[in-house]
Amino acid sequence: MFSTAFLDLPPLQGASGTVTLPGSKSISNRVLLLSALCQGTTVVHDLLDSDDTQVMLAALRQLDCGVQVNGTTVTITGLGGRAWPTEAIEFFMGNAGTAMRPLTAALAVHGGDFTLKGVPRMHERPIGDLVDALRELGCTIDYLGNEGFPPLRIGQPRLQLDKAIPVRGDVSSQFLTALLMALPLAAQDRAITIEVVGELISKPYIEITLNLLARYGIDVERQGWERFVIPAGSRYQSPGTIHVEADASSASYFIALGAIASGDGIRIQGVGADSIQGDIRFIDAAAQMGAQITSGPNWLEIQRGAWPLQGITLDCNHIPDAAMTLAVMALYADGPTTLRNIASWRVKETDRIVAMAAESRKLGATVEEGPDWITIHPLAPGQWQRASIHTYDDHRVAMCFSLAAFNADQVPVRIEDPKCVAKTFPDYFEALFSVAHTEAANIPVICIDGPTASGKGTLASRVAAKLGYHYLDSGALYRVTAHAALQAGLTLEPVDETAIADLARRLPVRFEGEQVLLNNVDVTDAIRSEQGGMNASKVSVLPTVREALVQLQHSFQRLPGLLADGRDMGTVIFRSAPLKVFLTASAAKRAERRHKQLILKGFSANIDSLRADLEARDARDMSRSVAPLKPAQDALQLDNSSLTIDTSVDQVMIWWHSRQVFGQPTWLN
Ligand code: DC
Repeated sequence: MFSTAFLDLPPLQGASGTVTLPGSKSISNRVLLLSALCQGTTVVHDLLDSDDTQVMLAALRQLDCGVQVNGTTVTITGLGGRAWPTEAIEFFMGNAGTAMRPLTAALAVHGGDFTLKGVPRMHERPIGDLVDALRELGCTIDYLGNEGFPPLRIGQPRLQLDKAIPVRGDVSSQFLTALLMALPLAAQDRAITIEVVGELISKPYIEITLNLLARYGIDVERQGWERFVIPAGSRYQSPGTIHVEADASSASYFIALGAIASGDGIRIQGVGADSIQGDIRFIDAAAQMGAQITSGPNWLEIQRGAWPLQGITLDCNHIPDAAMTLAVMALYADGPTTLRNIASWRVKETDRIVAMAAESRKLGATVEEGPDWITIHPLAPGQWQRASIHTYDDHRVAMCFSLAAFNADQVPVRIEDPKCVAKTFPDYFEALFSVAHTEAANIPVICIDGPTASGKGTLASRVAAKLGYHYLDSGALYRVTAHAALQAGLTLEPVDETAIADLARRLPVRFEGEQVLLNNVDVTDAIRSEQGGMNASKVSVLPTVREALVQLQHSFQRLPGLLADGRDMGTVIFRSAPLKVFLTASAAKRAERRHKQLILKGFSANIDSLRADLEARDARDMSRSVAPLKPAQDALQLDNSSLTIDTSVDQVMIWWHSRQVFGQPTWLN
C-alpha cells in the first residue's frame, strides 16, 4: 500500500495483463454480520481485507463472536442461540457506512447498552431515516450529537411488530438493507413487513442483501420494490462455507483501463458478468462508451474498442459507485457525457458530485453539475493540464483519477493521500502498476551519489519512502557480487574477472525492505561488513563486471519511479535522470558520524584514524580510472555537514518539486 502524502503517476501509455481483485466490500460486510447473527460456524473465503471490514470484524469481536482470520479466509462463530454480552460496549465505526447502518439496526433490534461512533465525516452522514424506522418498531436509540446523525446510543427495545414498518428508500438503500438483516432476529413467531416510503434507490444493493439472506436461510418475500415480508419462523442458518465475489465496483477501474489503454487487453479474475453485484452492470455502460468486453465464470476480458470513446447520457441510479468511473472515461470521449440520477453521490464518503467536478476541472475539463447530475466534456489532445488531485478521503476519487494518467498529452497526475484506497482496495496502485506500462523515459529517476559515509543511502531511502518510489542501492549489488564470487570459490586477488562478470550477469539477488537475499538466503549482515565493503571496492573497478550489472540496474526503473543511490547512477546508468544530487559532507563530519555508528554497534573506533581512512578513500575513489567518484555535470550539490537528515530530505523534495510542478505543494505543509 502507498502510505505517502501523495503519489505521482507518470504518463502511462498502455496496459495489458491479468489482475485478481479483492473481495466485494458490500458482500464482505453483509456476510460478516450474517455469519455473526446465525447459529454455528461459517467459513468465509476471499473476504476483503480493508478498513471497512476491519471495522466490522472489530465490532464482532467486541460482541464476543468467534473470529479467526487466516489471510483472506475468516471463520466466524455466530451469536445465534447464545447470550450476547450484557456490559456497555462502545463501537468505533470509522467511516464505514456498510458497518454502521446494519450494525445499528441489529444492535437496536436485539437491545443492550451500545454506543456507536465514527470519524467526523461519519458524524455528518445521515442516519435519521433508519433511526426513525427503528424507533417506529420500538427500538430505543438516542442521538449523542446532532439530531439525525451518529454518534448513537442504543438501549433495550420494546418491539411492536404487528403493523408494517415504514422506511425511506430514497436517501440510502443501506437503511432498508439494515432492517432486512436485523428483523429476522425478531421474526420467530410472527411475519414482519417493511414498507418502503418514496422511490427506492440503488435496488441492486437490495438484491445482494436478499440473495445473501437466502443463503443464510431467510427467504424474504418481495412485493414489487415497495413491500418486503420476512416470514414467521425465520431463523438464521449458517451456510457452512461461503465465497465472496471480487468487488464489481473495484472491477470498474480495470474495465475502464481496458477501454482506455492501448495494449493486449485486461483480464479481471474474481468476478464475471453473472455477478450478484449491481455494479457489474457497469460493463453495459462501458460497452456503450466503446469497451469490448467478454466474460466467463468469474472472469472478464476487456479490450479497447471505439477510440476515442463515445460520450453517453445515462441514468446511473443502478450503478451509483461505478458510475464515478464513467466520469473519468468521459474525459477520453468524443463528446460530452451526462450522468443522471446520482443524488446519492452527495451523501457518500464526500460530496462526490462536487469532488468529481472540481478535480476534473483541474485537469482542464469543462464540467456542469446539478443537484443530481453531472456533465463532463472531454479533453482533446493539447488540453490536458498537470493536476494535483485532491481525494477527499474517498477511495473512489483516488482510483478514478489514476486513469487520467493515460492522457494524450503525457502529463503526469498527482494523487494526494493515495492510502485512502485502503477503504476497499489497499493494493490498488500496485495492481495498476502491474498491468500499466510506459516507456522508460517516462519513469522518473532521482540519483543520489557522494563520497563514502556522506549518508547517501539514508537520504535516498528516505526520499524513496516519501515518494513511494523503488530504491536501488547499487553499492549493494557490488557487495553481493563480491560475496557471491567468494562463495563460488573465485578469487579477488588475483582477480577472476571473466568468471565474476558471468556471475554478475545472472546474479540471483532480491531486495526485501532492508534485507538483501542471494539465492533466497539473507546475506544482509555479511555484505554490510567493512570487509564486504573492501571486497565490493575490488570488484567495482572491473569494467566487465560493471557492464554485466547494467541491465540489472536498469530493471529497477519501474513504476512509479526510482531512487538510485551510488557512484555512476547519474553519469552512466541513468544519464537522463531529471534530478541528480551529489551529497557531500566534510571529512571531519563524516568521520564523526561513522565513529558514532561503530560505537553504537559495539565496536571500538578512533575518530582520527577513521578520518584519515576516509580521506585516503576519497582520494582513491576520485582518482581511480574506472567509475571515479565525481558529480554528474548536471548534479546539484548538497553539503549536509550541518544539516539534519530531515532537512536534507526536505531540500531534495524541494528540488524535486521544482521539477514536477503540480500546483500548490500541499505536501510541504
Ligand atoms: O555504497 P557502498 O559502500 O555499498 O559501495 C560499495 C563499493 O562499491 C564502494 O567501493 C563503491 C562501489 N560502488 C561503485 O563502484 N559503483 C556504484 N554504483 C556503487 C558502489
